[in-house]
Amino acid sequence: MAPSPLLMAFVLAAALLRVAAALPCRSSCGEVQIDYPFGIDDGCGTPQLRGWLSCNGTSGLFLQTPSGAYKVESIDYQKQRVMVYDPSMSTCSILQPHHDFVMSDVQYAVMPPADDTVFALLNCSIDSPVLNHYRYLCFNDVAGHSCNELYGACNAFRLFHMSSNTTAPACCFTRYSTVRFMSMNMLDCTHYTTVVGAAGEGLRSIGPTDWVYGIGLSYAVPPGLGCERCKKSGGACGFDTDSGAEMCLCSSTMNATRECAAGSVMDGGERTAPVILLHGFVMALCCLLFNFMS
Ligand SMILES: *[C@@H]1O[C@H](CO)[C@@H](O)[C@H](O)[C@H]1NC(C)=O
Ligand SMILES: *[C@@H]1O[C@H](CO)[C@@H](O)[C@H](O)[C@H]1NC(C)=O
Ligand SMILES: *[C@@H]1O[C@H](CO)[C@@H](O)[C@H](O)[C@H]1NC(C)=O
Ligand SMILES: *[C@@H]1O[C@H](CO)[C@@H](O)[C@H](O)[C@H]1NC(C)=O
Repeated sequence: MAPSPLLMAFVLAAALLRVAAALPCRSSCGEVQIDYPFGIDDGCGTPQLRGWLSCNGTSGLFLQTPSGAYKVESIDYQKQRVMVYDPSMSTCSILQPHHDFVMSDVQYAVMPPADDTVFALLNCSIDSPVLNHYRYLCFNDVAGHSCNELYGACNAFRLFHMSSNTTAPACCFTRYSTVRFMSMNMLDCTHYTTVVGAAGEGLRSIGPTDWVYGIGLSYAVPPGLGCERCKKSGGACGFDTDSGAEMCLCSSTMNATRECAAGSVMDGGERTAPVILLHGFVMALCCLLFNFMS
């Protein structure tokens, strides 16, 4: 007796359904690749960074901190660096009221701004702590570029020059720790901007109009204990959303503690295609046998 068309259809549908059950973790948001230790779906990545990143449709990837949502422009997994950009910050071409960049204690511990990100505090009053008691927190220049050059070269900052008829208002190049421990109000500077890549010689030959404005964050997250093994088996490294325990996510219908069993990963990739075929084949065989015997 031949297998009924109905049964064959069932087998096909079952195989297709398994293909549709993709891995539960998205691996990109817009242009930015999402990989361990990060995750944009709850339960993906490491529980340490849970809820930090969110993918907002076409607007892209955002880092959530106590002071707001910051656009994540790129993540370099080799250098362990995240580039964020605060759209409400001043740059060489736009002057915007200051808005403190606040990170939680955990964020600051795990992913602090990199040493080559310099905060330029602008238009500081003569009473500012960084011009008095804390003046040692400022450095005079960024790769040979002075505050005065910033005021002169940037359309956005020329205004400061014009509002004072003697010398340019004071400014201070400093690190994030200064801004973190004294808010902008305490610092008594009306504006700030941040420049990345200020450590090497990279900025020496280019003027402020061509600098890259943003914040580079350096993260240090211990590699997940079994993450490599999980990835090798085709899973995504994640955690139990209730207990926070690390887990290997194999498909939306299956989680494993360490690694995915052969055939449990249904991400539709090349590697798993033969498994799906085999699966379908075995099912078809069973149906045939079943039909044959009845
Ligand atoms: C996400 O997108 C929605 C609408 O597309 C918008 O209202 C919201 O402000 C966005 N959130 C962020 C953090 O940009
Ligand atoms: C610069 O700072 C002074 C106070 O120190 C303030 O009155 C002035 O408006 C600021 N300039 C700009 C362009 O915001
Ligand atoms: C500079 O400005 C002050 C007031 O802000 C004014 O009294 C003084 O005459 C000005 N000096 C010059 C040289 O324009
Ligand atoms: C697998 O783990 C993820 C993340 O904790 C969870 O959302 C999902 O419901 C789990 N699935 C199963 C089948 O347990």
